[in-house]
Amino acid sequence: MSLALSGAAPAPPADAVDGVWLECIACEETFAPFEDVRYTCDACDGLLEVRYADPPTFEDFSGRGVWRYADALPLESGVSVREGDTPLYEVPRLEADVGVEALRIKHEGMNPTGSFKDRGMTVGVAVARELGVDRLACASTGNTSAALAAYGSRAGMETLVLLPAGKVAAGKVAQASLHGARILEVDGNFDACLDVVQDLAARGEAYLLNSLNPFRLEGQKTIGLEILEAFRDDYGAWPDRIVLPVGNAGNTAALYKAFRELVQTGALAPDDVPKLTGVQAEGAAPMVEAVENGADEVRRWDEVETRATAIRIGNPVNAPKALPGIRETGGTAVAVSDAEITAAQRDLAGEGIGVEPASAASVAGLRTLRAEGAVGGDERVVCLTTGHLLKDPDAAAAAGADPEPVPADTDGVLEHLRA
Ligand code: F0G
Repeated sequence: MSLALSGAAPAPPADAVDGVWLECIACEETFAPFEDVRYTCDACDGLLEVRYADPPTFEDFSGRGVWRYADALPLESGVSVREGDTPLYEVPRLEADVGVEALRIKHEGMNPTGSFKDRGMTVGVAVARELGVDRLACASTGNTSAALAAYGSRAGMETLVLLPAGKVAAGKVAQASLHGARILEVDGNFDACLDVVQDLAARGEAYLLNSLNPFRLEGQKTIGLEILEAFRDDYGAWPDRIVLPVGNAGNTAALYKAFRELVQTGALAPDDVPKLTGVQAEGAAPMVEAVENGADEVRRWDEVETRATAIRIGNPVNAPKALPGIRETGGTAVAVSDAEITAAQRDLAGEGIGVEPASAASVAGLRTLRAEGAVGGDERVVCLTTGHLLKDPDAAAAAGADPEPVPADTDGVLEHLRA
């Protein structure tokens, strides 16, 4: 099986360019990387991965941000707004409360447009430029559209975003709008938007920049590389587990790929690979269902609902890449309620870390797994928080305290404070 954790770096096929090629994870057909626009396998429609004849070791990394990891990426540089280099925060109160040996928060909300999507777009939009396409498109629950709008405008390219009408948080629509994307509001959920964008891409009308695009996931690998390096430098060991929110399972797939490549070069021992642990909202949990049933395929949920609109997704397109990642690393997946997500959002805010609801799912999931005993008290854990609090100001205001009206004089204010 081509997605096994262990194994040597593959030999390059004849169509590799500078040791880089695309390979189908299902039938192993290979393709040149930048010649034609291609998202899935011509032969069997399986998912494609970028492969390297020469995967990196930690010694290969120097510089700043995502492009510090150029040796692990298909290009030397990208369309950049200085993405990556996000903080790995200590959260001592939450760590003690959850009851694990160590807990760190990797806050991807600290990227330029406020989510991890920037890491994918700096690579994906650069590849689009390389391919010479003229119109970019994505379906989105919001963050992908904000990032694509920003990176598309930076590259001077036309950008279309398809959003599920009424189901995208205010901050994200505002970003896509001001960065100049054309926003098409679709009468349907995210999965329906993605069906349309895939069709537009298949007809050659636009270049698709959802996480089905294998180049985008290459950029997102750098989340895993940063976590490993920062945790090792901070703690003197690798983390045992990484807990992350799951929608299309692109990040799960990307982190697993980063770890596989380090294992290929011997930079990371297979036993040291963190357990990938996915969290979904109860109302949109097809990956959790598949993991719990030990299934190889995910059943598409047609009806999905959660306050964590970023992960309101019923058809995780990267499941064929992500399920092996969860399985091979000894991880798991768990569903959490909207109330648990909001409680975790407050917990993080109480440590000074402002995240949007979907992001807090990671912490809510960790709490659940720790309470069930599936996560041990001796574990060193990193929770990924994927988007910034200001992405969804309505959810933040609803989860926080209401403003208190006071008169415009000091005595009146003091009287109110004493009451
Ligand atoms: N967290 C946030 C804040 C997200 O925006 C997303 C996905 C995820 C988690 C899930 O990540 O798909 O890699 O499993 N948002 C996409 C979007 C779908 O359109 O912005 P995944």
